[in-house]
Amino acid sequence: MGVNKGAFITFEGIEGSGKSTQIKLLASYLKKEISKKIFLTREPGGTVISEKIRSLVINHLNQKSNPLTELFLLFAARAEHFDLIKQKLKEGYIVLCDRYLDSTLAYQHYTGSIPLKYINYLQLLIDKNQKPNLTILLDLHPNVGKKRIIRRNKKLDRFDRESVEKMNLIRKAFLKIYKLNKNRIILVSNNLSKKEVQNNIRTIVLKYLNK
Ligand SMILES: Nc1ncnc2c1ncn2[C@@H]1O[C@H](COP(=O)(O)OP(=O)(O)O)[C@@H](O)[C@H]1O
Ligand SMILES: [Mg+2]
Repeated sequence: MGVNKGAFITFEGIEGSGKSTQIKLLASYLKKEISKKIFLTREPGGTVISEKIRSLVINHLNQKSNPLTELFLLFAARAEHFDLIKQKLKEGYIVLCDRYLDSTLAYQHYTGSIPLKYINYLQLLIDKNQKPNLTILLDLHPNVGKKRIIRRNKKLDRFDRESVEKMNLIRKAFLKIYKLNKNRIILVSNNLSKKEVQNNIRTIVLKYLNK
């Protein structure tokens, strides 16, 4: 099977929902079986400057920071990152991005204080309506996600420390976004083994790539 067209595929979901695990498994599978041109990236991040902004957002902002500071930092990171994504798509890469626009909507709008119209406007300035082709929304009960985060071998950051109640609100926000964007987003339960979830994701992605 050979695929030459580029594709922009994003992974979304609450902390602990399995995005990073599944996107890495998918990237190695696609690289081995489908195309050498796989670009695995993440938000916030993905370029030197955007990774610096990621560190600011994750390690230096806190509950008391102005929500607009976070919003502008996230979009500043995205402006840099999207140039790279666009370039990769033009070169025929399959771009796999760990979190993207739906995270901004879930955190900054649905469970935050930023009106939707401003997020849409800033996004449009950056992407000129070049949206992801496909989004995998990993869904998991926050209780399970929380347990997995605590067991994960990584220092906890401010997002990992979020309460189960807040995680539940974010989960509901993602589900709302899913209902409004069923043409683009596919809901995948992560309440199965890593392998079973990966198989489900592969089926969805291959179906999209072969369309
Ligand atoms: N299906 C699964 N079953 C059990 N543990 C899982 C599963 N998927 C992921 N995990 C574990 O849960 C933790 C969180 O997964 P991760 O991929 O880091 O989530 P995210 O990137 O969405 O925050 C990791 O330690 C990972 O190994
Ligand atoms: Mg992750």
